[in-house]
Amino acid sequence: MNDKKTKSISFNRGIPAEESLPAGKIAQASFRILKEERNSLLQYSDSMGYLPLREDIANSFTKDSSNNVLVGNGSLHLLDIIANLYLNETEVVIVEKPTYDRAITIFERAGAEVVGVSLKDDGVRLRELKEAIGQHRPKLFYTIPDFQNPTGTTTTREKRKVVADLSEKQGVTIVEDSPYRRLRYRGEDLPTLRSLNPESVIRISSFSKLICPGIRVGWLAGESKTVEKVASYAEDTYITPNLISQGLVYQLIREGWLEERAKELISLYRPRLEATLESLERYFPEANWVDTQGGFFVGLWLPDSTQTKAFYSRAEDNGLTLSGPNGFFPDQEGEGFVRLPFPALSTGEIEEGIKKLAQTWQEI
Ligand SMILES: Cc1ncc(COP(=O)(O)O)c(C=O)c1O
Repeated sequence: MNDKKTKSISFNRGIPAEESLPAGKIAQASFRILKEERNSLLQYSDSMGYLPLREDIANSFTKDSSNNVLVGNGSLHLLDIIANLYLNETEVVIVEKPTYDRAITIFERAGAEVVGVSLKDDGVRLRELKEAIGQHRPKLFYTIPDFQNPTGTTTTREKRKVVADLSEKQGVTIVEDSPYRRLRYRGEDLPTLRSLNPESVIRISSFSKLICPGIRVGWLAGESKTVEKVASYAEDTYITPNLISQGLVYQLIREGWLEERAKELISLYRPRLEATLESLERYFPEANWVDTQGGFFVGLWLPDSTQTKAFYSRAEDNGLTLSGPNGFFPDQEGEGFVRLPFPALSTGEIEEGIKKLAQTWQEI
């Protein structure tokens, strides 16, 4: 058993590949923008964020006006602000089941009840969503339509339309979280929920996956009234966001580097996704998994959910590090689920890791 433990393979955190982190480019672009802007990036300023970057996001990412865009310190912090503004002990938020574990924590910390609606391979189960809205009258519906964390699911065009219409009719605000959207390895872009229904949708996104997490630059697009409320909350929380990072992102966009970067990351990660899907097909055909088209994750369903505990414990003995499944489920019932993040592993490690997963299943 010790031999097996010597080389552990980690399917644990969804993080960018270490070799993709662009320290040299960050240093160069920071120097260039500080040389140009001098002290303005070093002073307290507008809590909406650095205007040239807000304009770039509005023009190229969201097709909004810059009044609809706020740039903050990472998208998770913006989600926390939204939770604090919209939720309290009397409110309900609906999430996909499973969903991003930290989002559940944030909603619960704001006091809200978190209700899960099952996620199918093409998006949320619509009948269940309608019933949950009717029963709970939720304040928010939190969804990750592109390459969802933790399953990799992409919501279809048809379902996006239904969900956008439904939220408008029922007066439910949608929070569309889209940090992986630019990392599509196959297929075509689908419309964002915000483009389908701007009045009912707040979209959040981030440069963590496209540039690197350490810069902590995330953004939010919503109706100007919503954005103003978030800006006011942000001002009383951190006064001004990290303007040096925002200037740096603006510089990277202006130099055309970001477009190149997206292409490079897609070339780096696409073979890793293919290795994940091919290895599952080859070594673990009795399991079910999501046919992921982009992002960081493939969600795997074990052939028999009653064996989940035994599977996780044996997987650890076999040199695999996995994140336990329950945190992704608002009811903590993650039986049968395994999240497989692939970007930070080589294709060889992915094949080896999935072989070990299948072998673990055989052993139990
Ligand atoms: C769905 C989702 N939302 C938000 C985040 C947080 O992103 P950021 O680094 O911008 O805070 C993550 C990070 O893993 C994520 O998967």
